[in-house]
Amino acid sequence: MGDHLDRRGFLKFGAGVVVGALATASTDQIIDATSGLERSLRDRDFSVEGSQSLQARARDKNLIFGASTTARPIREDAVYAQRFAQECAMLVPANELKWQALRPTPTTYNYERGDRLIHFAQKHNMMLRGHTLVWHQGLPPWFKDTVHANNAERFMADHIQTVVSRYAGQMHSWDVVNEAIAPGQGQARGLRNTPWLRLMGESYIEKAFRLAHEADPKALLFYNDFNLDFANPKDEKKRVAVLQLIERLLDKGVPIHGLGTQAHLNAAKLQQIHAGKLRQYFGRIARLGLKVMVTELDVIDQQLPRDIDLRDRYVAATYEDYLTILLQEAAVIGVITWGLSDRYTWLSGEKPRRDGLPVRPLPYDQNHRPKLAWNAIARAIAQAPPRQVSQS
Ligand code: XIL
Repeated sequence: MGDHLDRRGFLKFGAGVVVGALATASTDQIIDATSGLERSLRDRDFSVEGSQSLQARARDKNLIFGASTTARPIREDAVYAQRFAQECAMLVPANELKWQALRPTPTTYNYERGDRLIHFAQKHNMMLRGHTLVWHQGLPPWFKDTVHANNAERFMADHIQTVVSRYAGQMHSWDVVNEAIAPGQGQARGLRNTPWLRLMGESYIEKAFRLAHEADPKALLFYNDFNLDFANPKDEKKRVAVLQLIERLLDKGVPIHGLGTQAHLNAAKLQQIHAGKLRQYFGRIARLGLKVMVTELDVIDQQLPRDIDLRDRYVAATYEDYLTILLQEAAVIGVITWGLSDRYTWLSGEKPRRDGLPVRPLPYDQNHRPKLAWNAIARAIAQAPPRQVSQS
């Protein structure tokens, strides 16, 4: 019975994924295509040579490999902390530098949790990314009753000046503005309808970059967003709107140095990974003079079959196919996964499975053992052309 249900659940996405535009495909054709894909995944080679860590493999190509983490498991789980230090050349505090964490009240800052992580990173010679200065989520409860059109700019400026100068010289890069584009919300130029847009208008974006640059002229400043990944009309629209935003900023002389592509990839869309489209897009970003980082990579297995071996193969194939393409582009300087171990992934809450099984989106499993996803990342790095310049 369980198997029967799984099979049906799986076929449901199979219909969307495997035959895509073939609206006339019969159920039999869909089943054939799905099992064809499964067969090729079962046969696929994910072997890796050598025993180097991901950061060492990346460093050999002058690339950065790292991950985000929250403070707690680093503090409480020694095995995890050890794996993290071994694998990662860069650490991104997942929540600890968001407003919610840093701003207990409108007039005070609390760096305790962030500093613990930063200390851990520095002890292990890791680089740091700051995430994130201006976002519509992760705002403290006092925000909506305290920040108005007449003081929003002051609040933003104070926040950026205070936080960015506190960590000046320590951050490789900052996600200055996060997720400002959401075409389809009825706003001009595909802008997301956020508190910042409502309070300050579109100029909030350039102001944030200028303030961050003043506070830490050496940090690379990134615009960061999601859904830039697949060959479908929704992602295409978003890619265009993000590109146009970047062009507007550059035209105004705004100090923006990079595009972060989050890449929370749904494995059910494995076959919508399109080399030509991705190369063309990130090539254009590169020609604008921007660097690119994959900033929040993980692979959603919510709709995959329950069989763990097959599921891990889907996830690994998604990692490898996507990263191999992205890393062909020389402007891509690094890859950050959103978490390292399935035990602490945000996707357990965000994209749980209907069958209640634990999700498996990251390179390490619940018990901090490497999975095929780890091999997939190593394989993609191995195929990457070496960069000329070290990123660290
Ligand atoms: C997520 C964290 O992982 C969660 O722990 C938190 O509850 C919500 O935010 N895009 C982003 C990240 O830019 O900040 C988000 O992180 C995931 C989506």
